[in-house]
Amino acid sequence: MREWTREERYVALDRKDTEKLRALHDRISQSIWRCSYHVQTVTGLLGDTNGFSYFDGRWHLFYQWFPYGAVHGLKHWYHTSSEDLLTWKNEGLGIGPGEYYDDKGVFSGSGFPEGDVLYLPYTGNHRDENWVRYPYQLLAWMDKDGVIHKQEEPLCGPIAGYTEHQRDPKMFFHEGYYYFLIGVQNEEKKGRFLLMRSKEIRSGWQVYGELNVRGYDDFGFMVECPDLEKVGDQWLLLFSPQGLEPKGDEFRNVYNNTYFIGQMDFEHCEFIPNGPFKELDRGLDFYAAQCAGQNIWPNRAVLEAWFGVSDYTYEPTAEEDYSGLQTMARILTIENGALKQRPADDWKKLEETLCGEYCNDAETEMPRSAVIEVESNNSAVSLDLYGADDHPGFTVEYDPQSRYLTIERGHMENQINTKYGTDRRVHLENGLSQMVIFADASSVEIFVNDGEYVLSSRIFPTLQEHLFRLKQSDGKTALYKAARTVQDDFVL
Ligand code: FRU
Repeated sequence: MREWTREERYVALDRKDTEKLRALHDRISQSIWRCSYHVQTVTGLLGDTNGFSYFDGRWHLFYQWFPYGAVHGLKHWYHTSSEDLLTWKNEGLGIGPGEYYDDKGVFSGSGFPEGDVLYLPYTGNHRDENWVRYPYQLLAWMDKDGVIHKQEEPLCGPIAGYTEHQRDPKMFFHEGYYYFLIGVQNEEKKGRFLLMRSKEIRSGWQVYGELNVRGYDDFGFMVECPDLEKVGDQWLLLFSPQGLEPKGDEFRNVYNNTYFIGQMDFEHCEFIPNGPFKELDRGLDFYAAQCAGQNIWPNRAVLEAWFGVSDYTYEPTAEEDYSGLQTMARILTIENGALKQRPADDWKKLEETLCGEYCNDAETEMPRSAVIEVESNNSAVSLDLYGADDHPGFTVEYDPQSRYLTIERGHMENQINTKYGTDRRVHLENGLSQMVIFADASSVEIFVNDGEYVLSSRIFPTLQEHLFRLKQSDGKTALYKAARTVQDDFVL
């Protein structure tokens, strides 16, 4: 892929370029890796989940976006919306860069619905003429007509005692106060959580304190996209730490996305975890997850994430000038002290046509977009997705002796980010009972044991990689062609 200069990368969306961008979109919409039920970039590059929320009867999902190419250029927010978390509609530009506070990027932030508006706090990335960065926490809001307004004055400017890395506000309300949580890097270059607080949303923000996590101190050199979420009577602390070393089968991606379950002690600005932090997803590509700001489900959280990781490159589509999609929405609950992650309630709507029900030794055509339901009574499972005549494709294997579920993308023709390995595995303490696999042209998400684990990975199968093989399984496996729930239309 060609190199982009800084001048080329720091370009804001210009409506005069509409026809040029339409042509770009028309070209990439022909790509064999476009998905049929995932939110994917309209043009250019997609990154973090932003502003995820339920407001005025719809789910709103924004994403970090650079319109002009598959590079991390000047960041905007792009807006999509949904009624059911499965069918997504492109809405056009959400927030674009302005003249000062966010002139070098509308960075990540959250969605907080209240009254007639959806508040959208985010980080403005300002850089001076020497390219020194100044982070500002800013506020925008969307009204019921879908018009987004920006507040001129920042909620706060750079906070003393921390480096230039201060970002990604997640806003919430608790017992009379508004809060937002940001990820910061302290002067010893350690990742930390900072809580800000105010009596009102638009002003009055003060540092409430560094959020201490009882018994834990090492979150790498920076914490990105933190999120504090009440689920029932417990709290989830989600974050994307950078710079952790791999530990056994965990933390093998360049950067990870992790969670604690516990209790919040607001008085002492302390989170009290009920155990160590774990990876939210055990696949190869998952980062910057965010729970929706919503007031409809007190006992569940709804999560989306970037189906990718910063610093990774996705050459097959980058060569075609685009990159990135969002994961499917997940419903999070805490059951017996453990996190459960399930696909959105109506996910069976995605099963359009049954291609067949199989046991051992089946080989058939694999739809580019598919849903696969696997039943297993803790017996061996071995299956190939997007296999070719001479190689297995993406493999999913469960070994009942060791109780390891292993995925492997190293056999595929197109290889990406191999430095971090091509396989991942999870140990299933209670064995394997079932899996639902969502495969969508360039992605595979595997939900294991009704919410126990999820493994999400990008893959880029060629047209020769088109076979589904069930090499081993005693239980019943059903293969469906998936419905199209995302129109790949051009909306600016
Ligand atoms: C995470 C991140 C955020 C930042 C955004 C910029 O991927 O680095 O911390 O706000 O991306 O695009």
